[in-house]
Amino acid sequence: AAIVEHVFHVTNVLVKPLCKEQMIPTVNGSLPGPTINVREGDTLVVHVINNSTYNITIHWHGVFQLKSSWMDGANMITQCPIEPSYNFTYRFDIIGQEGTLLWHAHVVNLRATLHGALIIRPRSTHLYPFPKPYKEVLLIFEQWWNMDVGLLSIQPAPISDAYLINGLAGDLYPCSKNRMYKLKVVQGKTYLLRIMNAALNKHLFFKIANHNVTVVAVDAVYTTPYVSDVMMLTPGQSVDALLTADQAIGMYYMYIKSYNSADQVSPFPPNTTTRGLIVYEGATSSSSSPAAIPLMPEMNDQTTAHRFSSNITSLVGGPHWTPVPRHVDETMFVTVGFGFDKPSGEVDGSLNNYTFVLPKTVPLQEAYFYNITGVYTDDFPNQPPLRFDYANFEPRTDYENMMMYPERKTSVKTLGFNTTVEIVVQNTKIVTKESHPMHLHGFNFYVLGYGFGNYDPTRDARTLNLVNPQMRNTVAVPSLGWVVLRFIANNPGVWMFHCHMDAHLPFGMITAFIVLNGPTPETSLQPPPSNLPQCSRIYQPPTT
Ligand code: C2O
Ligand code: CU
Repeated sequence: AAIVEHVFHVTNVLVKPLCKEQMIPTVNGSLPGPTINVREGDTLVVHVINNSTYNITIHWHGVFQLKSSWMDGANMITQCPIEPSYNFTYRFDIIGQEGTLLWHAHVVNLRATLHGALIIRPRSTHLYPFPKPYKEVLLIFEQWWNMDVGLLSIQPAPISDAYLINGLAGDLYPCSKNRMYKLKVVQGKTYLLRIMNAALNKHLFFKIANHNVTVVAVDAVYTTPYVSDVMMLTPGQSVDALLTADQAIGMYYMYIKSYNSADQVSPFPPNTTTRGLIVYEGATSSSSSPAAIPLMPEMNDQTTAHRFSSNITSLVGGPHWTPVPRHVDETMFVTVGFGFDKPSGEVDGSLNNYTFVLPKTVPLQEAYFYNITGVYTDDFPNQPPLRFDYANFEPRTDYENMMMYPERKTSVKTLGFNTTVEIVVQNTKIVTKESHPMHLHGFNFYVLGYGFGNYDPTRDARTLNLVNPQMRNTVAVPSLGWVVLRFIANNPGVWMFHCHMDAHLPFGMITAFIVLNGPTPETSLQPPPSNLPQCSRIYQPPTT
């Protein structure tokens, strides 16, 4: 195992993906930011030097952070932000996971431009559980606005101006005609595509004309090889897939397009599609026929999105696979959706009818570690306050007390060390209907089942997959549907559980789990590193 060291200079730079030049915060001046390459078992050290004008943290999305929860980089959960002109060094081991993950700023909106890939390859003595690819190719999908990222906190979030593939908007956009992502391939060779959805707020379909791909990992967990012509990734999800250049020498477009399960009357028409090009060696624009265009799913094609999400299974017996624990210690039923703040009438996100308020002066984990009272309450419920027709609810005039009015507070759930937790996440239709991508920090969960309507334990519990369920860190909870998750709380610390639509964070669609210490010092939360940023300097609490 090696120590892999990076320096992240965070600076504001001018970029121009479309016609308008825009000052954005970047890491080392690039969009997307630098790719980190490690092997499983390595120690990663990243020195973050903040020369931007923003308060930032860097979160290592999907990394287990075993015994290193202070390095999770969740703003006001595990640390105060790194303020302009301050530095912080993240240092942690990467153990028990292989594949493609994401690093990103964990401050509202800043994830838009402060992100990059974290690629974890097997130890040098180990192999992939699939044939060695000829080459590896990184595809990061991003969302671009011709506006200051600070302004994105306007709610509802404005429609983005383009999607980007590896920072490029492609030829369907003004001032971007010659800035299209192109992948050169050799006929007959197989490529490992490492695909990451770094968009702030959009689920995305991805498809390559005339080619199938074979999914081999999602969220840095190996899967049973799964052949598909189309993929759907929520913000925060990754897919590793093999692509064989098995078509006639020529050119083939790859398209990304928004998937919006909300409904046809969404107020945010996702009318943007971005494309890149696959060019076979030997193809010339004069000799070859025009590049083939993939037939994309309709933007509200829930069937296709759901098929891709739910058909994936884990590679039983593969590297790092562990069987599903059969005994459950803690059973939770958590609703996710929107409601209204009663006094103000403002829309609020909620989990079990609580709207999470980010601590303003002391990060949650410090409050927990030092027993500082008044920062949070340990009362996040295992059930919503009401049994209710969540998925079919039609707003009525008699909706007093009917899961319409969440309460704003910093409410967390405490879990005993090593307990097995099962969570039914039930999507609601109380204000909107849309798919929420729920993300858990610090752990992968098994996704035991997905379904539509209200989760019915007598009907649905029997259908759960306890044999080879996929494992993920981010799951698409279907619009008007549910998922069942299971994980083992074996890592002490404070871990966020939240919707990965960035725009839903300031609405409070968040809770956190405090995983208590185990019996030994080895299994206990250690004191914070001495250089952990403090909130006392020039820090202004974020407005959200
Ligand atoms: Cu990728 Cu809490 O986020
Ligand atoms: Cu959401």
